[in-house]
Amino acid sequence: MTNVLEAVELVKRFGTNTAVENVSFALRAGGSLALVGESGSGKTTVARMLVGLEEATSGKVVHEGMPTGRGTRRALARRIQMVFQDPYLSLDPRLSATDALSRVLRLHFDENSAARRARIAELLDSVNLSSREANALPRALSGGQRQRIAIARALAVEPRVLVLDEATSALDVSVQAQILTLLNRIREEREVAYVFVAHDLAVVREVCDDLLVMYRGLAVESTTPGDAIDAPRHPYTRLLVESLPRPGWDPARIADRRRELEKEIGRV
Ligand SMILES: Nc1ncnc2c1ncn2[C@@H]1O[C@H](COP(=O)(O)OP(=O)(O)O)[C@@H](O)[C@H]1O
Ligand SMILES: [Mg+2]
Repeated sequence: MTNVLEAVELVKRFGTNTAVENVSFALRAGGSLALVGESGSGKTTVARMLVGLEEATSGKVVHEGMPTGRGTRRALARRIQMVFQDPYLSLDPRLSATDALSRVLRLHFDENSAARRARIAELLDSVNLSSREANALPRALSGGQRQRIAIARALAVEPRVLVLDEATSALDVSVQAQILTLLNRIREEREVAYVFVAHDLAVVREVCDDLLVMYRGLAVESTTPGDAIDAPRHPYTRLLVESLPRPGWDPARIADRRRELEKEIGRV
């Protein structure tokens, strides 16, 4: 099976701080890979290197078999799109969803206005936005509605890969569930693969086939959500699994376990 995206021994240092240390993975066409880890574990830095917003200190990103560098940034922009945690910051406050999509389509495709209108309608439909929502300015919409616009805008250029960095983390649980359902349907309908960055295993297992657990810049376990839950190997993966809400679940005990883990790993 072909890989749409590969990370090969990615390293990123900021001064003396190593944010990402030797992270490798492969994403197959139409696949869905989660990067999971606590805050500061290097997930966003990996995501930014994947889309070319950050240059790797060493290692490389390979798109459909082609290594990428500065010169390929423009071509890359269409094949890989990023969706951020806060769509308010990434959406132009002066543009409705319809106008934002129209702008992206005009930039990337040479098509007549009737074809463009049809594509806009199709994109709005695939993220369940009503015409009222589609014609409102971002500030008049909820976080979930804004995030659906951000997803539609990312899909407009027909990317092979969508990198979603904590894209549902700031949303209410019920809205989050809607977006996850939406993402699953979009992946079934389109040839698009996901790199889904999150800190919550409960969210990730809804949308991802594969799971890479990050801890302090390192990829400590490459697994699937099912295997992680049934048989976690790394102590941090075990902690993630223990953190999943379930009957008898005790947040205070999880906090204790986290402190133990810090000591355990600090000693190694
Ligand atoms: N632009 C930057 N300059 C300096 N340090 C950074 C920068 N971006 C991230 N870092 C550091 O890299 C580490 C990983 O951060 P990040 O990738 O944002 O983690 P995560 O997304 O998992 O929370 C942190 O120690 C963070 O402080
Ligand atoms: Mg982050």
